[in-house]
Amino acid sequence: MSPAPGTGAFESGLSASTGTGEAGERAGERGVTSAESSALERAAEAALRPRRLAEFVGQQVVREQLSLVLDAAAARGRAPEHMLLSGPPGLGKTTLAMIIAAELNAPLRITSGPAVQHAGDLAAILSSLEEGEVLFIDEIHRLARPAEEMLYMAMEDFRVDVVVGKGVGATSIPLELPPFTAVGATTRAGLLPSPLRDRFGFTGHLDYYRPAELETVITRSAARLEVEIDAEAAAEIAGRCRGTPRIANRLLRRVRDWSQVRGSGRIDLEAAHAALAVYEVDERGLDRLDRAVLRALCERFAGGPVGLGTLAVAVGEETETVETMVEPFLVREGLISRTPRGRIATPATWAHVGLAAPSPGAGTTPPLGRF
Ligand SMILES: Nc1ncnc2c1ncn2[C@@H]1O[C@H](COP(=O)(O)OP(=O)(O)O)[C@@H](O)[C@H]1O
Ligand SMILES: [Mg+2]
Repeated sequence: MSPAPGTGAFESGLSASTGTGEAGERAGERGVTSAESSALERAAEAALRPRRLAEFVGQQVVREQLSLVLDAAAARGRAPEHMLLSGPPGLGKTTLAMIIAAELNAPLRITSGPAVQHAGDLAAILSSLEEGEVLFIDEIHRLARPAEEMLYMAMEDFRVDVVVGKGVGATSIPLELPPFTAVGATTRAGLLPSPLRDRFGFTGHLDYYRPAELETVITRSAARLEVEIDAEAAAEIAGRCRGTPRIANRLLRRVRDWSQVRGSGRIDLEAAHAALAVYEVDERGLDRLDRAVLRALCERFAGGPVGLGTLAVAVGEETETVETMVEPFLVREGLISRTPRGRIATPATWAHVGLAAPSPGAGTTPPLGRF
């Protein structure tokens, strides 16, 4: 198959029409373990994106479902139903949206919830769509309400009402749209109003990747970067990337730097260990801030329970940063437990910070004055 016409447009459109979003701006603060990408990183990422469904690693279920939807649409010679992709950052939503357009051999238009400020912005995009075009709306949960309502109608009836004039003299002119396929991406499917969610004929949920899948991602990316990598090194990086291909690729690039500057040029286990030590990413993928939070929880609050705000102050961070960028992974790893009275350490937390857990009972009474 020839590459989709939309593919090239996507790469340039990504920075132009996709709002950086809060997440992108915060990514820099977090460094190598952030699941978000910074604006500067987009080109490096684009170079590593799989272009075809067959090259997309893992996510067996979603891949199978998608290929059915796409093949059926191709067989009927019609635009497929609208598709929603949900899941945490860095797992391949944007990549899949590109792949959908490529597999359909259809042009691709990209926008995002935050980039569409007014319904008029969306009307302009919708009214210029070509037949069969794929419209990718990233961070669709952040669309403004009027735009969202316009989108319902466009998705359902392939029609928009364009309002002309103001006040009592305003008239709305219905405008027919060519059949198109909307692909929405969201990290927060739960935030989508149900009328919007219901207009997607297909919803694919992406989940964190298994180590073996991440090893494949890393090995293939190394080949694209034209650097040799040992299997143990790929496994080492896979174990430290938080189940997230974006982080895997980023760590790979940092390890490659090390091997080219300090090592043999080939990525071996030594390079992986040394580079990840430089970036302070530990064997479970925790970075300095993660470890600071765990240490504070154990050392200063005796394993809790402690409120998140108090914990954030203890590590000199905003509560929101700790809540959105630190805690979810620690909870997923069983390194923090959330209880109604606050956060508490688990046996794994004590083991990870290298301290003995207090004897049973000792940690259950919070120190005075903390609540
Ligand atoms: N299944 C996969 N196979 C190979 N690479 C992947 C896969 N999923 C994601 N990636 C890589 O991870 C990076 C982030 O993916 P992206 O699609 O931008 O994530 P999202 O949009 O969900 O935040 C990209 O560089 C992409 O190449
Ligand atoms: Mg994305």
